[in-house]
Amino acid sequence: MPISLSSTPMFSRIISQSSSRAFSTSSALLNRCIVYTQNGDPAQVLSAITYPKLPSPPPNTVNLKFLLSPINPADINTIEGVYPSRPKPTSNIATSGLGSQDQPVFVGGNEGLAQVVDVGEGVQGLENGDWVVMDQPQLGTWSTSRNVPFHGVIKLPASGLTEAHGATMTVNPTTAYNMLDGFVKLQEGDWVVQNGANSAVGQLVIQIAKERGLNTINFVRSRDDMGPLVTHLESLGATKVLTYDDLNDRSLRSKIKEWTGGQDIRLALNCVGGDPTTAMAKLLGQDSHLVSYGAMSKKPLSLPTSLHIFKNLTSHGFWQTNWSRTHSRTEKEELITKLAEMMKEGKLKAPEHTIITIGPQVSDEEATEKVRSIFAEMAEGKFRKKVLLKLEEPAACA
Ligand SMILES: NC(=O)c1ccc[n+]([C@@H]2O[C@H](COP(=O)([O-])OP(=O)(O)OC[C@H]3O[C@@H](n4cnc5c(N)ncnc54)[C@H](OP(=O)(O)O)[C@@H]3O)[C@@H](O)[C@H]2O)c1
Repeated sequence: MPISLSSTPMFSRIISQSSSRAFSTSSALLNRCIVYTQNGDPAQVLSAITYPKLPSPPPNTVNLKFLLSPINPADINTIEGVYPSRPKPTSNIATSGLGSQDQPVFVGGNEGLAQVVDVGEGVQGLENGDWVVMDQPQLGTWSTSRNVPFHGVIKLPASGLTEAHGATMTVNPTTAYNMLDGFVKLQEGDWVVQNGANSAVGQLVIQIAKERGLNTINFVRSRDDMGPLVTHLESLGATKVLTYDDLNDRSLRSKIKEWTGGQDIRLALNCVGGDPTTAMAKLLGQDSHLVSYGAMSKKPLSLPTSLHIFKNLTSHGFWQTNWSRTHSRTEKEELITKLAEMMKEGKLKAPEHTIITIGPQVSDEEATEKVRSIFAEMAEGKFRKKVLLKLEEPAACA
């Protein structure tokens, strides 16, 4: 059973203060974050807690104010405890007021846009007001403020980006870029096939491919009204948009041959797994590569042995976290700069999104209820757009 934060002495104190609080907009602001103490269903284990203002940052660290942070599918897996990258437990009351030795908390959120608000001694290359993104996983971005090592963040260009661009910069655009770049040497006019093409990653693949002069065949789940989705993906640059049902159409191969002029497709990107991926892999040509980065259907991937024997198919996995671990800071900064430039030039759109704001006048109980209901609705598939969390500092008691 998940531990209820409100049953522990420290949190009952914090929560009872906040629930009975008579708010005043003129009083000093506190901090708030979304935490859990035990893995489980986010709609049951997440809680909002209030914590004190951060003290001045220790040497080589910066205090950040988060502006906007997405809820990505991997965040849900992390809270469930089935994702390999986990946040460190926080138990440093002295510096942040979060957690205790007896009951450390995990602060949710892996990705986000923050502004530097205070700089510790020894910090280089960052000053107050800079926009930054995270260069370390699981820093706890569902917070109003955090203190982090300065080498744990990367500075964004000073202007020209929206908050939504910045908040969604480090996970999906980097993944899309690296998968198109890292497995096959593609030339202008080449073809790439992908499933989950309407996912945030898939939409970025479409846009980056278009920018590189590549053609894309994009598979999505069928839905009652396909028209708006097809129009949207085509407006991003999709060459062809099809559904997984089309993969069962015997005439599909000849259609594709016509589109490609008989050219082999050598790269397939897999977001979903299961039967649609098996069928998509069969569209690949000689010496091709299947790159799996998601498993949204939660179904295993099965590949005909003949594809390996006769077509020399190679099947890879890609994990951006691993790419980040194995690449230098300079390479990461170069990639972020490149993507930010594309965003500023309008070549990469921020994902369609819904911003959920948790404002200063909301009590921790109300915030907890709101956050849990978002996750419950996400599990029911009610959000078709990326959810971005905007946590505002809770007002202190009047
Ligand atoms: N390996 C990496 O480094 C890396 C990096 C970034 C993301 N990812 C992974 O990539 C995937 C997409 O992430 P995102 O942020 O782009 O997600 P997103 O924007 O929320 O999109 C989710 C996608 O999954 C599809 N989907 C949901 N449930 C499905 C099901 N039961 N069967 C088939 N398709 C289903 C959705 O299709 P509908 O619209 O039809 O529901 C949509 O296309 C996730 O698995 C994420 O963890 C991996």
